[in-house]
Amino acid sequence: NNDIEILRHAILDQGRVIGNDILKVDSFLNHQLDVSLLNTIGRAFYAHFGQLKIDKILTAEVSGIAIAAIAAQYFKVPVVFAKKTLSKNLDPDTWEGSVYSYTKGQTYQIRVARRYLQADEKVLVLDDFLANGEAIKGMKEIIDLAGAQMVGAGVVIEKSFQPGAEKLRELGVDVHALIRVVSLDNGQINL
Ligand code: G4P
Ligand code: NA
Ligand code: NA
Repeated sequence: NNDIEILRHAILDQGRVIGNDILKVDSFLNHQLDVSLLNTIGRAFYAHFGQLKIDKILTAEVSGIAIAAIAAQYFKVPVVFAKKTLSKNLDPDTWEGSVYSYTKGQTYQIRVARRYLQADEKVLVLDDFLANGEAIKGMKEIIDLAGAQMVGAGVVIEKSFQPGAEKLRELGVDVHALIRVVSLDNGQINL
């Protein structure tokens, strides 16, 4: 598939490895945004999940927003993003999910206003990276609390040497990664 090939090339050409387990893709996904490539990503998600009747896309701030917003132009549904900070502007009536951060060694809450997630809605979760699966697990908690239905989770890059995908599948989540990174050992990106 041509869209996946384009994405593979972008990762191999522009990705930088930090240590043995972090892949930086700041030039197109996490800092600077390559909107044409985001469009390719959105189309690839639609090719996989487009036959499902979804009502909404859910992602988490910050990096998920651009991906989800562009993908939503194919699905023609609204995007809701879970918030990581409690701001005064956030509707107090929220659903909360917890996310354990391995880097910070602590759990934080992500929140979605109840008015933006209704019982019986079919929800597709999209995110940039799948590593330990904590962010997506937190979003699943929110969907479950709302009484909505999580139809799947799409990620741009799964680091398959980390346990997230397996953990989510054990929770019954249909996980689909556009690209799987098998290892990042010795500064080498192995897809
Ligand atoms: P996970 O359990 O949600 O899979 O992620 P984990 O806690 O392992 O990682 C914490 C944050 O780091 C997440 O972003 C995740 O997307 C990101 N991340 C994990 N591995 C990589 C990687 O190899 N490269 C890059 N660039 N990011 C990685 P986040 O804290 O939710 O934040 P945000 O960036 O969306 O604001
Ligand atoms: Na993320
Ligand atoms: Na991120």
